[in-house]
Amino acid sequence: MRILITSDLHLEYTGMETIRRMVAGISREEPDLVLLAGDLGNPDHLFEQCLAAFLPLSCQIAVLAGNHDIWACPGATSISLYEEILPAITKSLGYHWLERDPMVIPQGIGIAGNIGWYDYSFQEPKYQSSLEEVIRRKQNYAMDALKVDWEYSDLEFARICRERLLAQIRTLEADPSVRRILVVTHVPLMESQVDRRPDDEDWSLGNPYFAHLTLGEEILQFPKVRWVVSGHTHVEMNGIAERDGMEPIATAVIPSDYGRPRWVTLEV
Ligand SMILES: [Fe+2]
Ligand SMILES: [Fe+2]
Repeated sequence: MRILITSDLHLEYTGMETIRRMVAGISREEPDLVLLAGDLGNPDHLFEQCLAAFLPLSCQIAVLAGNHDIWACPGATSISLYEEILPAITKSLGYHWLERDPMVIPQGIGIAGNIGWYDYSFQEPKYQSSLEEVIRRKQNYAMDALKVDWEYSDLEFARICRERLLAQIRTLEADPSVRRILVVTHVPLMESQVDRRPDDEDWSLGNPYFAHLTLGEEILQFPKVRWVVSGHTHVEMNGIAERDGMEPIATAVIPSDYGRPRWVTLEV
């Protein structure tokens, strides 16, 4: 079973030709499943075009949202994009909207997915800041501050994401046909997925908007979880999360960047 996971294709920067070439490369790998882990295209007609580029593939495709995908645009608020418009686009193309339901595929593999969001838990101790400071600085590091128009605070939306993802994982843990679980998120969850640069003040002050480490801590408690793969930071990070009395979790960040799409391959 070969699963290919990509994210951060950012059609508006990357262009359709480059994405089509990447899809041709993915096709040559003959995947059994392709996962698209957010930041695919904004506004919504570009999200749809990006997804449609994968129609030539014969395998199943599952999709989740990235923070850029829910930037408000003419005729669409962030909440309508996340809860209605992006799921409807995904389903109209015959793909699976992973934000709503987990998947179970052959070989006893369960897949849980969510945008993940950031909860400011990723901070460098040397530059630990108050909640007020982190909120005030956000627009310097994350355009979400100006482009996401819902009423949720980041902590509120991160909690919603946490509850939804943990509910999916619990469902898969309770399913006797599932032996191992792959967790896919847009925002990284695990310490082994984040790039700490304690000597770089500017980098460190941006950390709070790039991970949801408290959710990663909770995921460590689920014995069937074996892989966590995320996007968002555009920084390749391959790691292992060890845990007592349980199989370790292999972790990765998809190294796509603007104009340079990439994918990771998982043989299960
Ligand atoms: Fe991105
Ligand atoms: Fe992102």
